[in-house]
Amino acid sequence: MKQIRILDTTLRDGEQTPGIHWGKTQKVELARQLEKLGVDVIEAGFPASSAGDAEAVAAVAEVCRTAVVCALARMRREDIDEAAKALQSAAHPRIHIFLACSDIHLERKLHITREEALRRIRDGVAYARSLCADVQFSPEDATRADPDFLLEAVKTAADAGASTVNVPDTVGYAMTEEFAALIRRVRAALPDEVAVSVHCHDDLGMAVANSIAAVGAGAVQIETAINGLGERAGNAALEEVVMALSVRGKYLGAGTGIRTEEIVRTSRLASSLAGIPVSVTKAVVGANAFAHESGIHQHGIMADRSTYEIMDPASIGLSESTILLGKLSGRHAFAERVTHLGYSLDDAATDATFARFKEIADRKSNVTDDDIHAIVNEYLDGVSGEYRLEHFQIQSGNHIDAMALVTLRKTSDGMVKTEAAPGGGPIDASFNAVNRIAGGEGQLRLAAYDIHAVTEGADALGEVKVRVTCGESSYTGRGVSTDIIKASLKAYLNAVNKWLASR
Ligand code: KIV
Ligand code: ZN
Repeated sequence: MKQIRILDTTLRDGEQTPGIHWGKTQKVELARQLEKLGVDVIEAGFPASSAGDAEAVAAVAEVCRTAVVCALARMRREDIDEAAKALQSAAHPRIHIFLACSDIHLERKLHITREEALRRIRDGVAYARSLCADVQFSPEDATRADPDFLLEAVKTAADAGASTVNVPDTVGYAMTEEFAALIRRVRAALPDEVAVSVHCHDDLGMAVANSIAAVGAGAVQIETAINGLGERAGNAALEEVVMALSVRGKYLGAGTGIRTEEIVRTSRLASSLAGIPVSVTKAVVGANAFAHESGIHQHGIMADRSTYEIMDPASIGLSESTILLGKLSGRHAFAERVTHLGYSLDDAATDATFARFKEIADRKSNVTDDDIHAIVNEYLDGVSGEYRLEHFQIQSGNHIDAMALVTLRKTSDGMVKTEAAPGGGPIDASFNAVNRIAGGEGQLRLAAYDIHAVTEGADALGEVKVRVTCGESSYTGRGVSTDIIKASLKAYLNAVNKWLASR
């Protein structure tokens, strides 16, 4: 049985999903769980894109000891240097460099000739090899490139020392047979010791099918993202690729080393950290993936689950939680539940989140897993903020303008600042008061506001997400509370803290 390696790019291409902005804390949490899941390579980020991402990649490189940790770089020395620097403490580092190879990209984006592209590939790969023994090369937009030129490009990269050649279907354009044929040609053109990998986008819904088709054509590495996160329509979903190789392994003659029982936990963790819910009909991990509505199906399932189920829910780690947490639960039970959900909080983080849990459990009869995800993520989002919410008072009514009085405490020196501000409603007024304290007046604009109940019932936790812009840059914030004005204020302050940190 052929062993397929999984390179998970949730932390890099997944972070290119509109609305996701992960910091070091979030990346480390998810990387730890990806390692438990058993992915072979974790693509941690793109260090040259920002100082924050370089720091996050370095933190992931430091904590991951079994998986290869990979950093992305464009085909230029400065990027390659940044990637090598961020990977300094990795046990198994890999630099992943890319250069577009389709004529569309060469002519209209890079304005270079094919000869110049080959020269850059030769120099860039050789330079990366001088800094790291494990180098992966991707010819971006490979599926729209002239296949003969694509082969020249990948051979040049292999000659210069690339140990993996990754073929990206950057715009999700390829059809299954066509992609398999291309992979077969790439495989035949390269020395045996160079691994062939695939990276498929889902613009036409073909990402998983194309990735699986590539296995029969010689690919030994598939790039995936949890829940199919990624640029535009996303990447091939890890859970779908892995379960296809698990359920149909005999037919495909291939399998992976993934611990499939960790799939649901990882999916939920990624969804909570990203603030992006998984569609109920999503294959493998959607809430309806094992739900049976029609009477005929229910009858079949009661007689024998295999009538309508091709996977055992337990094989992906789907089991009903039996522990219900409430106000009488202690720190130990809480900490165990948090770990069970895939987080690796230290003592200080556990203390802080446990205190929040107690506040919430006082107002809510049962605290569910979704509530705990919301509590932990609110903490992770705001862990290093310059201000914290101390107090607020709002006056509003149908015949008066809303007025908010907000007090914030500075984390660095403990000083408190209070400001009052009017607004079009209680939430607007409270955001204006925060702006007055933090210096955001005239600079920050509220670009998006979203509120949803984490669970059902009158005592549900409300989770608010906001996006604030300052010129071209945007900052997201998240806040949870049983009181929606408080949740809104916390979310706004969280975004403002990120803006302050970026200055
Ligand atoms: O889609 C793509 O082409 C990429 C490359 C950087 C591999 O993400
Ligand atoms: Zn991509």
